[in-house]
Amino acid sequence: MLKHSYRVGVLTASDSSFAGTRPDASGPAICELMEKAGYTVAQKALLPDEAAQISAQLRGWSESGEIDLILTTGGTGLAPRDCMPEATLAVATRLVPGIAEAIRAYSLPITGRAMLSRAVAVICGRVLIINLPGSPKAVHEALGFVLPQLPHALDILNQNDGECARP
Ligand code: MTE
Repeated sequence: MLKHSYRVGVLTASDSSFAGTRPDASGPAICELMEKAGYTVAQKALLPDEAAQISAQLRGWSESGEIDLILTTGGTGLAPRDCMPEATLAVATRLVPGIAEAIRAYSLPITGRAMLSRAVAVICGRVLIINLPGSPKAVHEALGFVLPQLPHALDILNQNDGECARP
């Protein structure tokens, strides 16, 4: 259950959406899912597949004190320009490998192509950053799976909940 209204930043990385040749459907899909779950979408951005720009955005939001969770979409695959995992790792202060592992494990029975996502999850300061793949379908599947675990993850990260053990 969501006890605190955590603030979310949603970042889409896509050369084609940034150039205006393909509308970004994945970023809005994340916003819709998160708002429905009671989160506040505090920031949104659309960037090209440029690692330096992506890292700067992630760092800026993480250091702003105005964001608790960053969800990214796109740029996790094998295309030469895909750089979301590298840009995310560049700002990491701690790794949370289980989240990306769990998303891949859950997604593999849906599509074998899930193994082609190099997505990572990390912490930057007090902000949790999770890479999601870059299609609305993948966003619904991956985020839908992770969503129930986010309140506890964010409560622990923000020291709003002292215990992992259930009574
Ligand atoms: N994961 C889920 N749950 N559903 C999907 O449809 N698509 C895969 C994979 N992960 C997919 C998925 C595909 S086709 C690719 S290429 C990789 O995510 C990377 O996508 P990205 O480069 O858009 O991030």
